[in-house]
Amino acid sequence: MVSSMIALLLLCTLSVILLCFATDDTITSNKLLRDGDTIVSNGGTYALGFFSPGKSQKRYVGIWFNKVSKQTVVWIANRNNPIINSSSGVVKVDYRGNLAIFDGNSSNPVWSTNVSIPISGNINSSSLFYKLLDSGNLVLCDQNKGDFLWQSFDYATATSLPGIKIGWNLKSGSNWSFTSWKSPDDPSTGDFTLSMEQTGSPELVIKNVSQKIWRSGPWNGLEWNGLPTKGRSIINYSLVKDPDEIYFVYNITDTSVLTMIILDYQGFIQIPTWVEGAQRWNTIRTIPGDQCEYYGKCGEFGSCNSNNEAICSCLPGFEPKSPRDWYLTDGSKGCVRKRELLCGKGDGFLKLEKMKFPDTSNARVDTSLGIKDCETECRNNCSCTGYASADVNGGGCLAWFGDLIDIQEFKEGGQDLFVRVDAIELENSKRSLVGSSTKKKLVLVLCVSIVVGLIIFISASYFLLNKRRREGLAQRDRVPPFKLPTSKTSEETNVNFELPTFDLNTVIVATQNFSLANKLGSGGFGSVYKGVLSDGRVIAVKRLSINSGQGVNEFKNEVELIAKLQHRNLVQILGCCLAEEEKMLIYEYLPNKSLDFLIFDRAKSKLLDWRMRHDIIIGIARGVLYLHQDSRLRIIHRDLKASNILLDSEMNPKISDFGIARIVVGDLSQANSTKRVVGTCGYMAPEYAMDGIFSTKSDVFSFGVLLLEIISGRKNTGFYHEDPSLNLIKHAWELWRDDRVLEVVDPSMGNSFPEEEVVRFIQVGILCVQEDAKDRPTMSSVIFMLGNEKPIPSLKQPAFVLRRNPYSSTTSASSHSLNEMSITIVEGR
Ligand SMILES: *[C@@H]1O[C@H](CO)[C@@H](O)[C@H](O)[C@H]1NC(C)=O
Ligand SMILES: *[C@@H]1O[C@H](CO)[C@@H](O)[C@H](O)[C@H]1NC(C)=O
Ligand SMILES: *[C@@H]1O[C@H](CO)[C@@H](O)[C@H](O)[C@H]1NC(C)=O
Ligand SMILES: *[C@@H]1O[C@H](CO)[C@@H](O)[C@H](O)[C@H]1NC(C)=O
Ligand SMILES: *[C@@H]1O[C@H](CO)[C@@H](O)[C@H](O)[C@H]1NC(C)=O
Ligand SMILES: *[C@@H]1O[C@H](CO)[C@@H](O)[C@H](O)[C@H]1NC(C)=O
Ligand SMILES: *[C@@H]1O[C@H](CO)[C@@H](O)[C@H](O)[C@H]1NC(C)=O
Ligand SMILES: *[C@@H]1O[C@H](CO)[C@@H](O)[C@H](O)[C@H]1NC(C)=O
Ligand SMILES: *[C@@H]1O[C@H](CO)[C@@H](O)[C@H](O)[C@H]1NC(C)=O
Repeated sequence: MVSSMIALLLLCTLSVILLCFATDDTITSNKLLRDGDTIVSNGGTYALGFFSPGKSQKRYVGIWFNKVSKQTVVWIANRNNPIINSSSGVVKVDYRGNLAIFDGNSSNPVWSTNVSIPISGNINSSSLFYKLLDSGNLVLCDQNKGDFLWQSFDYATATSLPGIKIGWNLKSGSNWSFTSWKSPDDPSTGDFTLSMEQTGSPELVIKNVSQKIWRSGPWNGLEWNGLPTKGRSIINYSLVKDPDEIYFVYNITDTSVLTMIILDYQGFIQIPTWVEGAQRWNTIRTIPGDQCEYYGKCGEFGSCNSNNEAICSCLPGFEPKSPRDWYLTDGSKGCVRKRELLCGKGDGFLKLEKMKFPDTSNARVDTSLGIKDCETECRNNCSCTGYASADVNGGGCLAWFGDLIDIQEFKEGGQDLFVRVDAIELENSKRSLVGSSTKKKLVLVLCVSIVVGLIIFISASYFLLNKRRREGLAQRDRVPPFKLPTSKTSEETNVNFELPTFDLNTVIVATQNFSLANKLGSGGFGSVYKGVLSDGRVIAVKRLSINSGQGVNEFKNEVELIAKLQHRNLVQILGCCLAEEEKMLIYEYLPNKSLDFLIFDRAKSKLLDWRMRHDIIIGIARGVLYLHQDSRLRIIHRDLKASNILLDSEMNPKISDFGIARIVVGDLSQANSTKRVVGTCGYMAPEYAMDGIFSTKSDVFSFGVLLLEIISGRKNTGFYHEDPSLNLIKHAWELWRDDRVLEVVDPSMGNSFPEEEVVRFIQVGILCVQEDAKDRPTMSSVIFMLGNEKPIPSLKQPAFVLRRNPYSSTTSASSHSLNEMSITIVEGR
């Protein structure tokens, strides 16, 4: 009895001793750290020990958040020197005060610090120890000295914590920077770095090896000029300039929040915060966030505005260098002056507001000059192309000498930028300014009369239109055909972009004479066959079944335009084949079939976890955005659906059949005879299904349906045999309304998904299928909403198109186009 109590007591004492040992926060020359042991910082925030990232078997020594259930490593000692043989690792402090990692009893360390403490010096090595602080900093302390002799904060890996510097030590010439991991399973140094550029005005840049991907813009006294903070932030950023050091650090204003800044393995800066309730990290910001944030998106003298449909425009006085590329999405070649700039002969500066400043690597900063002197300075030097206030409060002079690149125009935030323009440009802008002030009254009167006139006109037209409808006249007044503004440049395309044509024999051989065995499927515009070319390349051949009556040249021109659209989420057109009556399109072949084979299949959908579904949805969204916005052709897909989403070997989604309506029907301005335009039941927006009106917003509707299908694993139509009036949209809406929206999630996804994110996605999905096209977001806001915790506009009851679906899946229609919105007259079959 007594002996057993003593034994129990002993056991308790022993475990207390063990506990004390485990929570100790130091490593000394007398105390090693073996694989399996950890030391924990004194406030319990961070732990240090051996770990293996992701699926890796290799052992690394690192620091992670101690209280976060999902192991999240913030620092790694031996990122490039792992221990291959697991569990034999030991961390020791050697006789010179170096922290060293050994593999078993090997005498050579796999990794070591390099503190170079002189052996014969005054330092008593047993008074040296490494201590893990509650800030996440591992420091080498000397009991007899105050300073840290070494600290892990000076050797950051890919994660920044409050207090970690990024910048330069001007004395030693060394810099503090971050380098990405290679992959989630491999923390060794990857290709991406985040560092501070010291040229011109200091800026943060992300580089892919040596190529700039993103820059922050110069510091304006409050924040980075190119990273306007949206609302109050939990993070307080500051730029510190000492005689010896220039660096950027941040601090957290709310210490109860766990957060960090990571340069992830794909080169994105991520700022996650830990959500205790949900036990997961929640990303509050990703950089670069949109197209415009990518370095040099619109080239030299181009400016990027992500709120515009066409994101690139030229600065005043400039025009696209390569109009053809510019027109076809690619602004990266930039702009050139419309006229030669005659320096000192009437030239001057135009003010652009809310701008991200151009790359400052060719800029000079003079903090002593005010803005007036800055202008004088710039005006007097003919190679000065622009200037601005260096500080938000108006002080300091930033002047650029040479090309202005990587400029952005914000909706909010940014600063005024003054750009040098020639005399004619200056004159034009003055005239329009003066004109506007003197003619104000006249304009007001004019406006009023126009409005009144419009009201009368609209009422009259409405009355007339209704009358015609009632009389069953499906004919509408023909709208003048929409001419593409630079159609003359299609000859230029032929010069520098020749679309390969495949001859019929090649295609016949490749597809074994269109054998049934090679048939991959058939869609609205014809059948698709797999083919293998003699060089081994695998292709997909779309044999168009619809004779558009279009000429060969027109057809080729259209295919060439469409083939120039290149994006990782679009299926690439490789060429075409034209032979007598046959018109065929040759595509890259994708092995993983289309999305509908996966998501609607009980067994296969189990393979799709949330991450994959998430990535597929985002990929599709990016592809559609590209069609709508980045491509100056402004393609409206009109038939987005699961079977039109193909997957490559890495499960990246690729949209197919885009532009096909255009290829088959021809340039929309040519369409005046009856052509078939395809939409698919269940995906068509009400205004398209009912009235044949299509726009980017009808694609947004189809995207919303697709998003809900991917999350739920159910078809919008055809799933609810019991009650045909119930479709997925309605189902999702009703669950949403009743606050049970997670019940819509595909059961084969299990329970392991981030609820908040999934709810946000479903919410965006429902927003996309709103009845009124005006209530639906644009694709760029869709992407923004999917990626950010920004409040989503409130939802109204969406459109349950099927309830009143009067059309079969293929409708015959003739189409016109009027700028962005096309009107298709539905004639029924
Ligand atoms: C791994 O361990 C084996 C024996 O356990 C040894 O022969 C081998 O050299 C070790 N490899 C490394 C890289 O240390
Ligand atoms: C290596 O260390 C282990 C304990 O970790 C010990 O049992 C073994 O004898 C050592 N081997 C040598 C060669 O020192
Ligand atoms: C260690 O530091 C010394 C001087 O600071 C330097 O010369 C030496 O190259 C460093 N060694 C390593 C392995 O970095
Ligand atoms: C080294 O420091 C320890 C602890 O401060 C002390 O006990 C020891 O006597 C010192 N040894 C020498 C040689 O100074
Ligand atoms: C920072 O320093 C490291 C080595 O000290 C060097 O490799 C790297 O190029 C430097 N980064 C920049 C931006 O100069
Ligand atoms: C990084 O650079 C490599 C080689 O230049 C390129 O293949 C890759 O696509 C780039 N990645 C990004 C994200 O820019
Ligand atoms: C942010 O940091 C700066 C400088 O470190 C400091 O002056 C300021 O008070 C801080 N702001 C907040 C809200 O913590
Ligand atoms: C960061 O903020 C905390 C409290 O908000 C403060 O105690 C700490 O000194 C700050 N650190 C720096 C480096 O400004
Ligand atoms: C104009 O600025 C450039 C770049 O700073 C400089 O090289 C040149 O000497 C300046 N020219 C004049 C006339 O000041």
